[in-house]
Amino acid sequence: MKVHEQPMRTIWVEPDGASVGIIDQTRLPHAFVTARLTTLEEVAHAIRSMQVRGAPLIGAAAAYGLCLALRGKASDEALARAHALLLATRPTAVNLRWALDEMRRALQPLPPQQRLQAAYRRAAALCDEDVALNRSIGTHGVPLLEAAWAKKGQRGRINVLTHCNAGWLATVDWGTALAPVYLAHDAGLPVHVWVDETRPRNQGASLTAWELGQHGVPHTVIADNVGGHLMQHGEVDLCIVGTDRTTARGDVANKIGTYLKALAAQDNGVPFYVALPSPTIDWTLEDGVRDIPIEQREGTELTHISGRLASGEVVSVHVTAPGSPVANYGFDVTPARLVTGLVTERGVCAASSEGLLSLFPERRAPR
Ligand code: MRU
Repeated sequence: MKVHEQPMRTIWVEPDGASVGIIDQTRLPHAFVTARLTTLEEVAHAIRSMQVRGAPLIGAAAAYGLCLALRGKASDEALARAHALLLATRPTAVNLRWALDEMRRALQPLPPQQRLQAAYRRAAALCDEDVALNRSIGTHGVPLLEAAWAKKGQRGRINVLTHCNAGWLATVDWGTALAPVYLAHDAGLPVHVWVDETRPRNQGASLTAWELGQHGVPHTVIADNVGGHLMQHGEVDLCIVGTDRTTARGDVANKIGTYLKALAAQDNGVPFYVALPSPTIDWTLEDGVRDIPIEQREGTELTHISGRLASGEVVSVHVTAPGSPVANYGFDVTPARLVTGLVTERGVCAASSEGLLSLFPERRAPR
């Protein structure tokens, strides 16, 4: 995507050929700042603190974290230590484990002196693959927007509701849920996005709104609890969200509050789609509510809110009653029965084991 008219990805290798550049997402939307990561520990910190976030981007960052770790020593022990440290940064997005395992699979069989170069090559390939998968999700998602447009007699605008940030900032490029939106907008369809603010980290208000604005896509930020009201009044044609982990039977973990949107969508007959690249599928799990680990983060994310004063200064203020305990759950699970369809790089399928296996037949258990 473009930032200030310059084509840009969310992660890159710096001209020194070693350190890794990122967009510091904790500074958006108030400032567009890039950061240079030079060590394994800096990458782990960037993931934990959410300078980089979003399931696919967490995976890409972890892959480069392994590269930086191997710069010192590329021994088996160094590889194992870096894998473990990065895996522990965030628990819910399965792309993290997927990317780390892909890297280990490529590097482990090599002699240590060949590992470093191979690591950078594999990390770059993972990033390129992510861009291609997301672009393909976009292509498969556009007909859903066209169908919504046809259903309303091609009048007015196509109202999409999304939660959190599943745009290009959450991936290497394009995004998952927003890839169809960008392609449809570029093709001239009148798309408008309702952007859930997504408390407590405000990924919708800060990141989704920022990137849609950069691209010129019409959008409106709404408080997290508005979606149900809009659906009751026919103001949402379809919902599209991303996911951090989708089970083999199609249950989807995504940012906290997604489940409530899915319930409201079902009550109002609004299609509820989830967009995902295949590395987000956890083929080892079935029951998402029972088995997907849900991240709980620092209470200060809930007790405090940050914003920019008219003077330009960014400040953080306390918004909850002093001393009240808080619980900060990062994700929830939407059961497959509430999901109209999964939009993947191979097409759209039912949120069910059969649906996923129809697109990924290589995952069928051998008879
Ligand atoms: O806590 P975050 O900001 O990393 O959560 C991100 C989300 O929940 C996204 O919707 C998800 O990763 C899908 S991104 C393409």
